[in-house]
Amino acid sequence: MRFAADRPMRLAPATAGDYRELARRRVPRQLFDYVDGGAYEEATMRANVSDLERVLLRQVVMRDVSVREQAVEVLGQKLALPIVLAPIGLAGMLARRAEVQAARAAERMGVPFVESTVSICPIEEVAEAVATPPWFQLYVMRDRSYAEDLLDRAKAVGSPVLLLTIDLAVVGARHRDTRNAMVGEPGPRAKARRALDLLSHPGWLRHTAIGGKPLTFGNLEKAVPGARSPAAFKEWVDAQFDPSVTWDDIAWVRERWPGRLVVKGVLDPEDARRAADAGVDGLIVSNHGGRQLDSVPSTARALPAVADAVGDRVEVLADGGVRTGLDVVKMVALGARAVLVGRAWAWAVAARGEAGVQHMLEVMKADIDTALGLTGQNSIAGVDRSALYDDAAR
Ligand SMILES: Cc1cc2nc3c(=O)[nH]c(=O)nc-3n(C[C@H](O)[C@H](O)[C@H](O)COP(=O)(O)O)c2cc1C
Repeated sequence: MRFAADRPMRLAPATAGDYRELARRRVPRQLFDYVDGGAYEEATMRANVSDLERVLLRQVVMRDVSVREQAVEVLGQKLALPIVLAPIGLAGMLARRAEVQAARAAERMGVPFVESTVSICPIEEVAEAVATPPWFQLYVMRDRSYAEDLLDRAKAVGSPVLLLTIDLAVVGARHRDTRNAMVGEPGPRAKARRALDLLSHPGWLRHTAIGGKPLTFGNLEKAVPGARSPAAFKEWVDAQFDPSVTWDDIAWVRERWPGRLVVKGVLDPEDARRAADAGVDGLIVSNHGGRQLDSVPSTARALPAVADAVGDRVEVLADGGVRTGLDVVKMVALGARAVLVGRAWAWAVAARGEAGVQHMLEVMKADIDTALGLTGQNSIAGVDRSALYDDAAR
């Protein structure tokens, strides 16, 4: 017999954690683990969340907080809240045309959506579905003509900001993907297990896998033609990601990208200074959501020193472990102008599509509003380390 407590998610989802639970039920295990997991022992992934949890907000009272402004200017754009939907590769496998759904929700909430290089929906399809073009994320590839082609496509749809992801010179091992035979060519047993996994999620199968357009890599059709499998994708990744890239290569991108240029994946103050020297407009303090090198610092831990190292030379953004609006305020207090959320939107779109992502953003917006009010702040743009108790993160 099952008790009501076994099925708590009959209640309406209220948090990113609730969306995670709904996503866990809806999508095949191999996909859930792909999103949920991190590299090696997942220590950094856990620390992203737990270090942020340990950061304490400084509550102050009896200030006039009748005005609480969340709008911020980021990379030349006015955002309604200090949030950006992070690039999530393969998101379109989680729900039908998930990138389009998320971009629509983001637009409605006045925040940018970042289209990953390895999205299912091509950038043109996403751009067509919204009035404000998505930002674009690019990996540095060996085949520069292919990178150039992608830059041209992003330019053609009017993408204003390019995120150049620089923490994938080599690829970290994700053990959950190995266990789920998402890596390498699966044997017959693994194939059967994976098929069973897919078949035991008929809602997802009907709606996403069979019901929509084919699940191919929309931006990589020429590079990975018709590829449906994560194994084919991994092969392409290993062949294409370029470990010889240095800061000098930023000039190559600069020459071909007229918009704002942001590097994603900086943890070290020295690297941050180099990024500023290389002439980028912004940097994102990120450890790829704990999916690359394990045992590196959480982003909450790394952020203050990076922000101090560059000052006003470049705009500093951050991501990793952000699950609530309070986390957003903490990241801003630690030195970020705006914050990217990754898994939180991936779970929401997997669970409830566009409405889920919009709701997740509405909840974060309400959280931020409360946090501003109870830390005595009139504007998120004015939040600094004085909003933290005892400068707790360091
Ligand atoms: C399933 C998944 C796929 C991702 N794909 C990409 C990607 O294609 N490009 C990229 O730059 N970062 C990618 N990331 C990293 C995110 O952009 C972001 O840095 C990270 O998710 C932030 O941590 P959070 O998930 O705890 O919010 C991915 C993350 C996840 C969870």
